[in-house]
Amino acid sequence: MATIGVLRERYPGERRVAIVPATVGKLAKTGLEVRVETGAGEAAGYPDEEYRQAGASVVERSQVLACDLVVGVRVLGAGGDSWSSDLEGLAEHAVLIGMCDPLGTAEVLKEVAGRGWTVVALEMIPRITRAQSMDVLSSMATVAGYRAVLLGAVELPRMFPLLMTAAGTITAARVFVIGAGVAGLQALATAKRLGATTQAYDVRAACREQVESVGAKFIELSLPETSAEDQGGYAKELAEEFYQKQRELMASVVAESDVVITTAAIPGKRSPLLVTEAAVKGMAPGSVIVDLAAERGGNCELTRPDERVVAHGVTILGPTNLPSEVPYHASQMYSNNIANYLRNVVREGRIEWDWEDEILRETVVVRDGEVRHPRIRSLLGLEPLEQPASADASANPPEAGETESDSNPST
Ligand code: NAI
Repeated sequence: MATIGVLRERYPGERRVAIVPATVGKLAKTGLEVRVETGAGEAAGYPDEEYRQAGASVVERSQVLACDLVVGVRVLGAGGDSWSSDLEGLAEHAVLIGMCDPLGTAEVLKEVAGRGWTVVALEMIPRITRAQSMDVLSSMATVAGYRAVLLGAVELPRMFPLLMTAAGTITAARVFVIGAGVAGLQALATAKRLGATTQAYDVRAACREQVESVGAKFIELSLPETSAEDQGGYAKELAEEFYQKQRELMASVVAESDVVITTAAIPGKRSPLLVTEAAVKGMAPGSVIVDLAAERGGNCELTRPDERVVAHGVTILGPTNLPSEVPYHASQMYSNNIANYLRNVVREGRIEWDWEDEILRETVVVRDGEVRHPRIRSLLGLEPLEQPASADASANPPEAGETESDSNPST
C-alpha cells in the first residue's frame, strides 16, 4: 500500500493545506495510507483531530517526507528559497506534488532532477474538459476573484448596493473588471451579489456571453481586428500598439468606475500594462484598484506587490496570495483537485503512470533524473528529449499554444 504525506506549509503567510480531512477517505478508497504533518491544517481551520477522525495518522514532518507521494500547496520554487532544507529527508523515489512555479523558477527543477524525485507541477494541468476537476489554478483564481471584490468593497468609502432610504438614495457602486477569465468572472458575480453595477472587458470576444451570463455589461472597444486567442483558449501577447490603443480607449471606463479589478494574464509572460498613472489620475478620489496580476508585474502602472499604494486619491492594492486569505475553502477546492488527479495515478494502492494520458504527461515535469516538459526544457536552454513516439509521448508533446489543451499560464 502506497503512502501519501501532507506537508504543513512553511511559506510565510501561507495558510492553506493541500489535503483536508474530507478528502482523506477518498484517498483511502484508492488504497492510499494518509499521513498528515502535525498542525498542517490548523491555519486553514482543520485541526489534527479531524484528520485522525477521518482515518489519517498525524505525524512528524520526517515521516511525511518518507512517504511515496508527498503533497503540498507550495513546493520547490513556489515555496521560496528554503525549499531545499524544507524537503530534507524526501525519499529518492518520492513523488512530490504541488504548485512549484515551474515556469518562474525552472532552474530549481533542473537541480531537483538530479535527486531522483518525480515532480508533479499542478500549474501545468492542461485546460481541457476532462482536467477541469483537477485544475488548481482555476480553483485558486475563483477564490481570488471573490476575495478581490471584498477587498475593494472594504477600501471603498461608498456602499455597493443601490439603496432607497429615508435619508435619500444611495447609488450603486460601479465595478469594472479587466480580463474576464476565471478570476474576472467570479469577481463580476461577487460584485453583482453585493449590489454593484458591473461591466467587463476582455480581449477574447468569446468572453462576452460569459460576462453577460453573470449579469454584467461587456464593454466594446473599437480596437483593430486581431486574433487575440490561441488554440488553447488563452489570450496571446499582442503588439504594444494594441495595448496603447486599449489603454486610451479604456481610460474613460476606468475613470467612471469606483472599483477596477484587473486580472489580465498572458501565459508565461509579464502582465500587460493596461491602467496607466494618467488613467489613475482620471479616477474619482476614493476609488480603488485591485490588481490581481501584481505577481507578474501588474496591470496597473502604480501597483506594488503586496502593498497598499495611495496615489492621486486612489487606493491601489496588489495582493499576491488571496487564496491564502480564504484558506478553508481554498484548501477544500485544492484538496479535491488533488484527489481527482490522483484517481488517474493510484490504483488499488499502487502508483501507475499512464504516459498515454495527456494530463499526466503535461504535469509530471521531472522524472527519471530529467526535466521532461518541453516548455521547461526550452526555458532552461536544454535540448528537446528524443523519444520513440509510442513508448514515451510525454517527452515531446507539442508546445503550449499549439495543442487543444495548452498549458496553464500562471506559475
Ligand atoms: P485566465 O487566463 O482565466 O484569465 C485572464 C483573462 O485575461 C483572460 O480571459 C484573458 O483573455 C484576459 N486578458 C489577457 N490580456 C488582456 C487584455 N489586454 N485586456 C483584457 N483582458 C485580457 O486567468 P485566471 O485564472 O482568471 O487568473 C487571472 C489572474 O489572477 C492571473 O494573473 C493569475 O495569476 C491571478 N491570480 C492572482 C491571485 C492573487 O492572489 N493575486 C490568485 C490567483 C490568480
